Amino acid sequence: MADTDIKKGLAGVVADETAISKVNPETNSLLYRGYPVQELAATQPFEAVAYLLWHGELPTEEQLAGFRAEERKHRALSPVVKDAIDRLPLDTHPMDEVRTAVSVIGAIETAGTGNVLDAVGTPEENLQRSLQLFAVLPAIVSYGQRRRRGEALVESRDDLDYAANFLWLTFGEEADPVVVDAFNRSMILYAEHSFNASTFTARVITSTLSDLYSAVVGAIGALKGPLHGGANEAVMHIFDEIGSADNVVEWLDAALAEKRKIMGFGHRVYKRGDSRVPTMKAALDTLVAHYDRPEVAELYTKLEDEFVSRKGIYPNLDYPSGPAYNLIGYDTLTFTPLFIAARITGWTAHILEQQASNALIRPLSAYNGADERHIEGYVPDTAAL
Ligand code: CMC
Repeated sequence: MADTDIKKGLAGVVADETAISKVNPETNSLLYRGYPVQELAATQPFEAVAYLLWHGELPTEEQLAGFRAEERKHRALSPVVKDAIDRLPLDTHPMDEVRTAVSVIGAIETAGTGNVLDAVGTPEENLQRSLQLFAVLPAIVSYGQRRRRGEALVESRDDLDYAANFLWLTFGEEADPVVVDAFNRSMILYAEHSFNASTFTARVITSTLSDLYSAVVGAIGALKGPLHGGANEAVMHIFDEIGSADNVVEWLDAALAEKRKIMGFGHRVYKRGDSRVPTMKAALDTLVAHYDRPEVAELYTKLEDEFVSRKGIYPNLDYPSGPAYNLIGYDTLTFTPLFIAARITGWTAHILEQQASNALIRPLSAYNGADERHIEGYVPDTAAL
């Protein structure tokens, strides 16, 4: 279609306005509701950032206390959801497990709401649904990993904040403050990123006046792919393949000869470096020191230096977060579910924003198939025309 200006992959297309976050590749900055993400990661607990994304302002001390109390009420995995997870094969991919758990929650929470015309719910109901998903996802993700390891469910600790409780739920022991801090920073960095593929998916589903859970389930599906969230898992597979810094050059020669994509590098919007990487790299460095694993940093730096010097393509957030989650003790397959637990905040903020100012998202396509043709022997029923 030579005369139609197609933006393959919607590259460069501004699809709508948003007040939630601003990505500026020119200045290499990312703002959540106006605040640089680096400042939020250095100063805030993840709960405060969730509040900011939903309400537009950071909470006062009193508001944060109220928000945390409400979050703690909804942390537990219900028996129905636990049972649904337990029925899945142990080798189900954790992304499919979390997607299924959210779908089960959605079916239960929206039961009795009548027909599709009532599916959307009020803004207040959807804010509450968002908070409940935010609160329960750590239990879903953590239980998934424990189940695969043959370990029993761990109950939440009401005396622990979100990040510390998340690690408690996964490992059944209190994490060192250094680890809690690095994990909290990763959650904040992953929370929101404007119209990325999964968020846009959530907005498309929301735009049809479907419900919040359907939008989140769709977003999880989009996040799973290795060109998007699945990249943090894929980075670790690459690290495992390479083994050590000494093997980087040989490995990269072969990978580039095979035209492989190097996971954790490149970005649709940032072409000169991802604004979130320096903060996450600093968090990774603290973990490397804490666990005394310098060889991880050596491999990281060697691969980055080699790839950037050869291709001029920079790391994205998934590059430092993959090895960081590995050092903390997460299984590689759990990395992208951790991304879900963080991004639920951004997704739901966008769902609420889309609902508040909705227009059905329905682009056009340029047809490039067969010319009009007809079924041989078919005689139109002229009487019916
Ligand atoms: N390894 C090797 N080559 C690459 C890479 C990479 N990671 N990224 C881009 N390129 C090359 C690509 O092959 C293409 O080369 P050519 O012009 O010769 O065909 C050129 O750079 C442009 O790449 P593109 O794929 O057309 O660019 P895009 O804007 O569509 O892609 C991307 C962005 C993220 C899909 C891509 O960089 C990629 O596949 N990266 C690896 C997967 C990854 O790390 N994804 C995480 C993205 S950011 C965080 C998130 O969403 O979770």
